[in-house]
Amino acid sequence: MTDQKKIAVVTGSNRGLGYAISQKLAHISNVHVVLTSRKEAEGVAAKQRLADAGLNVDFHPLDVTDDASVQKFAVWIEKSYGRVDILVNNAGVNPTGNEPEEGSLLTVRLQTMLSTFETNVLAIARVSQALIPLMKAQNYGRIVNVSTEMASLNSIPTDFYPLAPSYRLSKIALNGLTALLAKELQNTNILVNAYSPGWLKTDMGGENAPFTAEDGAQTAVYLATLPDGGPQGQFFAELRKFGGPIQLNW
Ligand SMILES: NC(=O)c1ccc[n+]([C@@H]2O[C@H](COP(=O)([O-])OP(=O)(O)OC[C@H]3O[C@@H](n4cnc5c(N)ncnc54)[C@H](OP(=O)(O)O)[C@@H]3O)[C@@H](O)[C@H]2O)c1
Repeated sequence: MTDQKKIAVVTGSNRGLGYAISQKLAHISNVHVVLTSRKEAEGVAAKQRLADAGLNVDFHPLDVTDDASVQKFAVWIEKSYGRVDILVNNAGVNPTGNEPEEGSLLTVRLQTMLSTFETNVLAIARVSQALIPLMKAQNYGRIVNVSTEMASLNSIPTDFYPLAPSYRLSKIALNGLTALLAKELQNTNILVNAYSPGWLKTDMGGENAPFTAEDGAQTAVYLATLPDGGPQGQFFAELRKFGGPIQLNW
């Protein structure tokens, strides 16, 4: 029975961090996960991997940059469950390693910057517009925006990360979106927060990353299951790093 459970939607959950977050959420007895992927075959395969591990999740296609796909998903989820309780905006792109032009703001391709914003920022607005009305209808929601400490404006002068203008600016904008959405949702029981998962061994993070996707999923689960009255509009570091919830500088 799913009608007693929190319905959790995780974007981009066919691989990497999104898959690990889905897996961890699926282990929680009162949460029912809807795994999503823009590639249907990969989503079905991911659902099967979880099923093989004894975890029962649903799958539905979702391309977060596609209006029609998001609308179709919103209609399906309302029809299937009548609500959404948890939304993890995980799907993201990072062109940094693929384009040498990303080493400088003076060479970065503006088309790449735009397409990075399409996925990392505009898509979060699109999915929010489609799904938050379902949260508002029941005055309950937990929204987790997957950001990065590379987006901490205060740390930019001294941090050791590559310049990565398209990626960083998109995640800075995502943090801004988080703060604005939190302001709009204040005095509701819909809590929206951003977090940095750390540098992870995924297709995006590469082999040299010190942490696994499972490590990075821990803070997402914490924010996805916040109690009523929990933090609103904050930017969190990894729980693992500090042994508890610590806020990052915007
Ligand atoms: N890895 C790190 O070290 C690290 C560090 C900080 C933050 N993050 C953030 O963590 C999140 C997940 O990253 P990851 O490391 O798991 O990256 P990843 O392995 O490259 O996975 C990215 C996921 O996003 C999906 N995606 C991209 N565009 C999409 C779209 N238009 N619609 C639906 N899904 C889409 C991908 O789907 P396809 O398979 O179809 O491409 C894939 O499932 C991202 O937001 C990233 O910025 C990662």
